[in-house]
Amino acid sequence: MSQPPKTTGAVGVLDSGVGGLSVLREIHRLLPDIPTIYFADQGHLPYGPRPAGEIRRFVDAIADFLIRQGASVIVIACNAASAASLHDLRARHPEVPFVGMEPAVKPAAEATQTGVIGVLTTQATANGDLYRRVLERYASRARVITQVAPELVTLVEQGRGDAPESQPIIQGYLQPMLDANADQIVLACTHFPFLADAIRALAGVTLIDPSVAVARQAARVLPPQILPADHAIAPRNVYFTSGDPAAFRLMLRQLTGVQDAHVTGARWTAGRLE
Ligand code: DGL
Repeated sequence: MSQPPKTTGAVGVLDSGVGGLSVLREIHRLLPDIPTIYFADQGHLPYGPRPAGEIRRFVDAIADFLIRQGASVIVIACNAASAASLHDLRARHPEVPFVGMEPAVKPAAEATQTGVIGVLTTQATANGDLYRRVLERYASRARVITQVAPELVTLVEQGRGDAPESQPIIQGYLQPMLDANADQIVLACTHFPFLADAIRALAGVTLIDPSVAVARQAARVLPPQILPADHAIAPRNVYFTSGDPAAFRLMLRQLTGVQDAHVTGARWTAGRLE
């Protein structure tokens, strides 16, 4: 497929796969006229089980790619990638504002009535220093049940989140948190908001999804040179995947309703993206 024309100022958004679309849709709601460039690293999905150093190498190269494509602010719409990379990226690109995800333990700890909160996440986020710091800072008075749920990433990537056969898998991950009497569940992986309806159908808990707050933060740091897209010159929102563009287009439609998106394949070659 042909490369889309370059965007001159855009919000770049990245994730290991389709999860970051839960953040992108909030950015589109809040900033409907600002061009966006989304990168799904589906060639390396999942990030959750990978060591931080490896995730950092991928994310470094994706950030370089997004900057080359015209991004002037970058949203790391992935908790695992934020934990591994945010600090380094800010040091490497002091001119680019980066917005990252952090597990939303603070609002959960403030809202809990039972004193118990659940955090549904992936291994890379659970292992990271960022999560440890967030717990120290905000959860001193709450009991936190951390539940690593790798299969939920797969369910969302495969578009099976709402399938009846997925229910026991979701239930299996929720049960330890429910047994501990958690009344708030933090969605600390950007894939999981796409399971919100399925989770609510199984459990009477409050789900905490930080994507609206992250979109607001992106709006706050938007550099002044980003202008509403000129629709006559460039497609407003473009998408890249290191996986299969046709499969991505299908999931984009299923998860967010976006039709006829401009999706381009990007290839990893010797640690760089082309
Ligand atoms: N969506 C990503 C996150 O927020 C990770 C999913 C994965 O394991 O690749 O952490």
